[in-house]
Amino acid sequence: MKLLKLNFKGFRNLEDGFIEPGEKVNVIYGENAQGKTNLLEAVWVLCGAHSFRGAKDSELVGFNSEKARLYAEFYSQNRVQNVQINFYPTQNKKDKKEILINAIPKSAAELVEKTGAVVFSPEDLTLVKSGPAFRRKFIDSAICRQKVKYASVLGKYNKTLNQRNALLKDIPKHRELMETLEIWDTALCSLGGLLIKERIDYIKKLNLCAEEYHDGISSGREVLKITYDTNFETENLTSQQLAEEMLKKLRAGVKEDLMRGYTGTGPHRDDVNMEINGVSARNFGSQGQQRSTVLSLKLAEARLHREITGENPIVLLDDVLSELDNSRQDYLLNKTENYQVFITCCEESNKEQLKNGRIFKIDRGKVRLMSSL
Ligand SMILES: Nc1ncnc2c1ncn2[C@@H]1O[C@H](COP(=O)(O)OP(=O)(O)O)[C@@H](O)[C@H]1O
Ligand SMILES: [Mg+2]
Repeated sequence: MKLLKLNFKGFRNLEDGFIEPGEKVNVIYGENAQGKTNLLEAVWVLCGAHSFRGAKDSELVGFNSEKARLYAEFYSQNRVQNVQINFYPTQNKKDKKEILINAIPKSAAELVEKTGAVVFSPEDLTLVKSGPAFRRKFIDSAICRQKVKYASVLGKYNKTLNQRNALLKDIPKHRELMETLEIWDTALCSLGGLLIKERIDYIKKLNLCAEEYHDGISSGREVLKITYDTNFETENLTSQQLAEEMLKKLRAGVKEDLMRGYTGTGPHRDDVNMEINGVSARNFGSQGQQRSTVLSLKLAEARLHREITGENPIVLLDDVLSELDNSRQDYLLNKTENYQVFITCCEESNKEQLKNGRIFKIDRGKVRLMSSL
């Protein structure tokens, strides 16, 4: 996918206007709080109708606007297409949005299916160090972008999990409810089995790509290995068998679950193991090794997107360059040179690779094209 034109109206602090990005590198520079991330967010929203900062739709609308509109022309699936997203948060006091692809109303899931983007921001640099929830989110959102059905299974799983947890809290007061627990257990495990299977399959592919990138970044000195971490053996099991294994664990832990009022087994508790040369990158990796690991993972995510969907994703790099040392910066720029890339930074960079792209300056929400090669 390549973005050819992007129009924004009433979006965050951006002054109404448009940009025509170049096919390769697009640098967006400007001082702090001028709207660089907002512009990247606009690109991301056009690829999935939600923010990468976890913002509500209503927060995307400019303080002085009643609605926001994003419009883009993009090249994908061998043709020029367009997408328009309208946000009307004030109507009925509810978030309301409208997505049109090639002028036909569509769902956010259909938009995700048609577009593709990978975002890399400074918060991602803590992926290795942070808690499991952050890693689960990384894996889940990567799979969601490549397999739309996964998002709906994940939604159903979370709903079922909430219902089971509510039931666990009610049972001590109403023992007769114990009988209904079994129904929820079976439902939870069949969805859980599907999620675990998808995650294992994705992580296997991610591992192959990330290992190769990490080998490149570390000049062959380090071997990165990524595996799925759950509390039972998963090797070569189908989703059905994984569901059965999960059910065994769930049943074995019912007593504890009832005491805590919380479900202790399942994909919502799992993690992704990352090892460098056989030891945990989280516990023993240096900061540099942890950063290289995240860089390898992000590059692997982009490449897998292409391998799975057949389309290059747009790559959004929000302020990450300044967080990486020179050699990692060069590696990242080098490995993303076949993608359309949007990079934000505070100053006009001296990097030759960046000078070969289109350069935009942003000042109090006003975007101007400064140079184009
Ligand atoms: N909905 C909104 N309407 C108007 N301004 C907004 C909105 N949301 C954020 N802003 C403003 O955008 C600016 C931050 O933009 P951002 O893109 O994060 O800056 P940076 O250039 O540092 O990446 C802040 O000044 C913030 O007040
Ligand atoms: Mg920013």
